[in-house]
Amino acid sequence: MCTFDYNIFLIGFMGAGKSTIAKALQEKLGMEVKEMDQMIADKEGMSIPDIFAKHGETYFRDLESSCLIGLQQVKHAVISCGGGVVMRDENAAYMRKSGRIVLLTAEPETILERVKDSQDRPILNNNMNVDFIRELLEKRRARYEAAADIRIATDHKTTDAICDELIAALTAMDQADDAS
Ligand code: S3P
Repeated sequence: MCTFDYNIFLIGFMGAGKSTIAKALQEKLGMEVKEMDQMIADKEGMSIPDIFAKHGETYFRDLESSCLIGLQQVKHAVISCGGGVVMRDENAAYMRKSGRIVLLTAEPETILERVKDSQDRPILNNNMNVDFIRELLEKRRARYEAAADIRIATDHKTTDAICDELIAALTAMDQADDAS
């Protein structure tokens, strides 16, 4: 049933909808889903907040890069990336080797609404407000944009509509590649 002959990497800020859209694509396309945060937590035998608390962010970013290198062996999967994956320049190159990169975006207000009850994001602990989210989003924006093959705004859209838009955009990109 899988329509795409490569991995689909979903990137974007925390709360942009990566995990939700990955699951929906799994149902629509029959593609396997890989959750990077879950893979890292399983490998370390520790939750993401515990990894940050015990070893710090740099250690976590190293684990993210190693995880992406390992994922180059995977085919035809939807990979839901951690929101900070674009913070290392080499990571976009790792992703592009085996797939296309889709950026999901959302306004800071939408993000806060989606993440406000979560305790699982150490970067937002004690920073659960629109101003902090907007500022961090602005700091990261250029990196998200530079990494993305396709951008999809998710505000005020249903999961179904976002998936349809994403599938149409990837299909158009594939057709353009075939024609060139
Ligand atoms: C992070 C995002 C998180 C997780 C970690 C750091 C970030 O993933 O990887 O807490 O720096 O943006 P989600 O985007 O899935 O919440």
